[in-house]
Amino acid sequence: MRIYREADYGAMSRRAAGLIAAEVVRKPACVLGLATGGTPVGTYEELIAGCRRGDFSFREVHTVNLDEYKSLAPDHPQSYRYYMQTHLFDHIDIDPANTHIPDGLADDARAECARYDALTESIGFADLQLLGLGRNGHIGFNEPGDCFRKETHVVDLTQSTIDANARFFAHAGEVPRQALTMGMGCIMAARRVLLIASGEEKAEAIYQAVCGPVTPQCPASILQLHRDVVIVGDAAALEKLVKAGVPVCG
Ligand code: GLP
Repeated sequence: MRIYREADYGAMSRRAAGLIAAEVVRKPACVLGLATGGTPVGTYEELIAGCRRGDFSFREVHTVNLDEYKSLAPDHPQSYRYYMQTHLFDHIDIDPANTHIPDGLADDARAECARYDALTESIGFADLQLLGLGRNGHIGFNEPGDCFRKETHVVDLTQSTIDANARFFAHAGEVPRQALTMGMGCIMAARRVLLIASGEEKAEAIYQAVCGPVTPQCPASILQLHRDVVIVGDAAALEKLVKAGVPVCG
């Protein structure tokens, strides 16, 4: 596990974008696993700028996103499809047919989950999987629980996640109570995992993910079992790790 400590959100975003860009340059037809939430917004802005400069191209890239709210239409402003279009896909030269996100409107959600796993496997899993981190240690929408779920599945969101994501909606009552999320199987099958975190409210979750026991009570702790994980955090998010003496770059 390599941990980069950056001064602030901007530096974290530049570092993360640099690592993703390097992957695209190394392998132009790579598969990128992508994430949503507030944290990756700056990373996506950096990628858009690099693509516009002509530093790299997404023409041959395929993407698989981690999750989608159940029952939100793709054009709903808080759906993760809408997020990806507006924060990244609409501004880069990617082929829309190569971008994949679970369908939150599928009549048969379980069949949609099985389709999504088969699709992710058929394109060879992610070369690089970008992850944000929930305050409770969730990745994708894999919430704390009694077991790690391998397959893409429908999940009941915890109150902590609903509260954290309420800031994107008019009020907490509008936050969907369920989501479709990639399970740990596809996440752990990625060749490299890039976890990004910003702000002191992530410090405890990052600390538990890296130094705590591997337990489904902290879903991100499973990454301790992955052979190629890079964490990029700002100083506030990594403060607890650094205090505990965990070696970091920067
Ligand atoms: C959501 C997403 C996660 C994301 C998390 C953290 O719940 N499903 O993929 O990592 O929020 O979001 P933020 O970056 O806004 O803190």
